[in-house]
Amino acid sequence: PIPLFPTVASYRVWRRKAFDEKKSVGFVATMGALHEGHLSLVRRSLAENDLTVMSIFVNPAQFAPHEDLATYPRTLPRDLELLTAISVDTPFGPRSASAVFVPTVSEMYPSGITQSVAEQKGTFVEVKGYGHQMEGRTRPNFFRGVATVVTKLFNVIEPTRTYFGQKDIQQALLLRRLTRDLLLSHPEPQNLFIVPTARDPSTSLALSSRNAYLSPHEREHAAPALYAALQAAQSAWEANASKADCVARAVAVIEETQRKLGDSADIRLDYVDMNDPESFDVLPDGTSRADWEADVGGRPVILSGAIWVGKTRLIDNIVLSRS
Ligand code: PAJ
Repeated sequence: PIPLFPTVASYRVWRRKAFDEKKSVGFVATMGALHEGHLSLVRRSLAENDLTVMSIFVNPAQFAPHEDLATYPRTLPRDLELLTAISVDTPFGPRSASAVFVPTVSEMYPSGITQSVAEQKGTFVEVKGYGHQMEGRTRPNFFRGVATVVTKLFNVIEPTRTYFGQKDIQQALLLRRLTRDLLLSHPEPQNLFIVPTARDPSTSLALSSRNAYLSPHEREHAAPALYAALQAAQSAWEANASKADCVARAVAVIEETQRKLGDSADIRLDYVDMNDPESFDVLPDGTSRADWEADVGGRPVILSGAIWVGKTRLIDNIVLSRS
């Protein structure tokens, strides 16, 4: 069976040995409820590192008091089965994951952690100027919670390389900035890799642990509207429509889907927008692809959105690269 490390001290003994043996360590941070998206990060890590470590920790600091911390799916036995079943053939032979870090809340937060930010005490990490746009607009303390826990995880795991999903593009870009700003060596900024979003093959719905909250009907017919909306906006962008028109195209797809589904599903748009991947600033309404490329040159644009399907919030994005 794969070694499980519930404490920082026990993991550090294992990590010391890997340092001594000059073995590279790839790291995949997760909150569990594993699916093919998480596993695609693991496969990439297995292919590129001698050893691969996963963490499974549902981080209280990134959930607001009204969010789903209590009900977030916790499926450790199944997660371990899925993880250990994965093996990747490499020139050095087949490789599987080497260790799982599964800390308790008190292990990760020695000063304690409360859901109310106003009552919190202790040390937190904030990537200032990058946590209030896009996902941060409706989830104001979310990225503070993510940056804090991932800094702690990097300090424990000491990865050579680490892998994050494009599914959470703002998270991945913000964490890359964190590694630069905090001058980290494990990982070095250039060793944080972003892996493409894994999707359901029949509906193109982005895989997410939160999809487990959806009914089969919602999963098949309502949730896929988000990616369909983003694709409609992408086509408009490629035809040189203004940002406002691209967003309007996306909104129309959501409305049309809701109309078709009638009372059988409840879809609400949170936002669809287009942002600069460097500053996370919103593109001005009138900006077209030609304008953007003339102004900023080679930088892509992030087209992202969030919808509610019933009580479940879903996110997705497309990176619009240069024509
Ligand atoms: P979690 O939602 O469990 O996701 C763990 C990692 O898997 C993240 O890097 C996420 O972007 C990636 N991922 C999720 N769905 C994916 C998909 N469909 N395709 C590709 N990658 C996907 O993100 C978190 O946990 C937490 O915020 C964490 C970073 C662990 C900090 O608590």
